[in-house]
Amino acid sequence: MIIDNQKYPYPARLRHHTNPACYIPANELKELPENYPPLIDSINLKNIFINGKEPNVLDVGCGKADFLLNYAEQFPNDNILGIEVRESIAKWAQNIISGEAISNAAVIWYSVINGLNFIPNNSIDKIFYLFPDPWTKRKQIKRRAFIPETLEIYWNLLKQGGKLYLATDVDEVDEYHKKVLKKFGKFNVQEDINDDQWNFPITNKEKFCRREMILFNRIIAEKL
Ligand SMILES: C[S@@+](CC[C@H](N)C(=O)[O-])C[C@H]1O[C@@H](n2cnc3c(N)ncnc32)[C@H](O)[C@@H]1O
Repeated sequence: MIIDNQKYPYPARLRHHTNPACYIPANELKELPENYPPLIDSINLKNIFINGKEPNVLDVGCGKADFLLNYAEQFPNDNILGIEVRESIAKWAQNIISGEAISNAAVIWYSVINGLNFIPNNSIDKIFYLFPDPWTKRKQIKRRAFIPETLEIYWNLLKQGGKLYLATDVDEVDEYHKKVLKKFGKFNVQEDINDDQWNFPITNKEKFCRREMILFNRIIAEKL
């Protein structure tokens, strides 16, 4: 779908990143900053989709949501839930979903680093984690949302045969993803995925990479 930016103008002062503390698990902070995403223990997932169904697809760090909105259109039988740590963009995307009555998509303002206890285990077919913030500097590494602990959570949420899809344009991050997946085991990992094997909508970041001729790597990890 083409987003009508007159009807849904981008939030003013949309920043690439939010307060660094928002990327840290709540239980590791002495005090939560004012703009820390809400902590969610339980939620009636059926209430957040217009069609009243639960999600079977997750888009972690959905950002400006081109992927999520087009995925919802391309796969009308799936329910895709976007999880985004930046409040303004999460609310902007959810506003489009409500305004355009997209029944099989929803976005919540939340940091995945605080766990996903509100989603039942063995309920998800696909988890997308596309072009995460690279966080390659030593002092930034603790802001990464893909760590062994979240991989374990993803594995639990996925149905058997469910798939985790990863993409990044940063070689160091790609190597890191492969290392974490290898150490974890319990996934059948396919690397160097090409367009024919992917067949999903393009994300905002992927569009940028293609335009600037920046190479990116994709992985598909299937829950064994
Ligand atoms: C580089 S952007 C990519 C966005 C989108 N997936 C794409 O490919 O265009 C990374 C996104 O992940 C979000 N993000 C980073 N850490 C997160 C976390 N802990 N929980 C949820 N979203 C997070 C960022 O706010 C940002 O929108």
